[in-house]
Amino acid sequence: MASDTNRFQAIISHCKEYGFIFQSSEIYDGLSAVYDYGQWGSELKKNIRDHWWKSMTQLHENIVGIDAAIFMHPTTWKASGHVDNFSDPMIDNRDSKKRYRVDHLIEAHAEALESSGNKEASVKLLGDMDALLAVSDYGGLKKLIEEYRIKCSISGTSNWTDVRQFNLMFSTQLGSVAEDADEIYLRPETAQGIFVNFLNVQKTGRMKIPFGIAQVGKAFRNEIVARQFIFRMREFEQMEMQYFIRPGSQLEWYEYWKKERMNWHRQLGIPPEKFRFHDHVKLAHYADAACDIEYNFPIGFKEVEGIHSRTDFDLKNHQEYSKKKMQYFDPEVNQNYIPYVVETSVGLDRTIMMILSEAYEEQDLSTADKQDSRVVLKFPPALAPVKLAVLPLTKKDGLPEIGRSIMDQCKSRFRCFYEEKDTIGKRYRRMDAVGTPFCVTIDHQTKEDETVTIRYRDSMQQERIPVKGLADKVSELIAWNS
Ligand code: GAP
Repeated sequence: MASDTNRFQAIISHCKEYGFIFQSSEIYDGLSAVYDYGQWGSELKKNIRDHWWKSMTQLHENIVGIDAAIFMHPTTWKASGHVDNFSDPMIDNRDSKKRYRVDHLIEAHAEALESSGNKEASVKLLGDMDALLAVSDYGGLKKLIEEYRIKCSISGTSNWTDVRQFNLMFSTQLGSVAEDADEIYLRPETAQGIFVNFLNVQKTGRMKIPFGIAQVGKAFRNEIVARQFIFRMREFEQMEMQYFIRPGSQLEWYEYWKKERMNWHRQLGIPPEKFRFHDHVKLAHYADAACDIEYNFPIGFKEVEGIHSRTDFDLKNHQEYSKKKMQYFDPEVNQNYIPYVVETSVGLDRTIMMILSEAYEEQDLSTADKQDSRVVLKFPPALAPVKLAVLPLTKKDGLPEIGRSIMDQCKSRFRCFYEEKDTIGKRYRRMDAVGTPFCVTIDHQTKEDETVTIRYRDSMQQERIPVKGLADKVSELIAWNS
């Protein structure tokens, strides 16, 4: 059984072994903090993405979705403040040459203090760090690192440089001839694609404030401390929604979206005590209020989603840089204004890591006469990569043909998986390991009375049910409200 400390490693290994997530370019020894989703990981990812998209757009009549390009005009990032402000305070260890994000280095030390029983010192250290970060006191942060004798985990020394700021955006060239090329950035957030399209969507969609624009897409950040599997990647996916509102109403909508988004996470079947809010001490350059929804991962409470009251910062700056009016005429108050924005921004990869962490279970099934165990991924059925496995007991006597006809009935309605090879016990275990909620077994009785055995992943209970109506039954079981 994996203990709490190695549970995270066990999940990473499981993801690789069962086709969920692979290191990118693994045959060339991988690319740091970049990952590929395999056959089951990409199904899981798609299901989570679709669930978010539906809950934002289909279930909110005043929210529409767009799909903006990753490449944007370089001035976008001047206007958004990312060229000047999108940086993290970093410190280098002179001996190991390793670079750390200052807050991560201090937080790791605080965690070590807490696990060695020194909770008071840990709380004080984090409090001091927050206060210094809030006023961007980099000299003070270096002194704090020295005062606590924080060491580099590689060199074991405290030979630190000064704290400096590093921009996190990746740049590339647009155009084929290097000398003529324009430097452009890979977007570090999807939000700007929404801001620059604000008027296009508002006018063509005849949208009235308050309204939202949602988007799912890739974002890129040159993260310095890129570790912890898909928690912190250099290429990742965000699911963002910008909610355009009347100035002055931002705190009310901020509270509204905090509540809405927390409910969304809880409705994934995760117990409420696994979540908490964390208010930002040092606000991003665009925000007047901001918090994170944190989930208790096997590596501790960490951010999954950010909710930010972004004021009119982005639209106002795009108006200034583009010289195009970003105003909305509000007939209810008979006024033109630049709308304020509350955004919800959840990482798709972090949501996947949360769902995997919650679903992963190692079970000891040993009895007095037999040692047995299984690893099961208890995904909510609606998110499971495969919904139904169709398993003929043997490869002969016409059982595969019945299995194939069940596949034909079901595969257009939900993702099915057909398998004949190996004992039925081994096949069940493999389906448990990829989180398939239902398996049907076709046996000799099926030929007589047109019934199959359905096996439930979580309880491992089995029951006989008619083949007729199987697709309807599974459809009902995988719906969110079942
Ligand atoms: N538009 C606002 C914004 O980008 P953020 O808090 O920087 O805000 C939002 O990012 C979410 O994106 C985070 O809560 C996290 O889930 C995800 N995210 C950010 N950086 C990430 C990274 N390097 N790897 C994976 N997910 C990341």
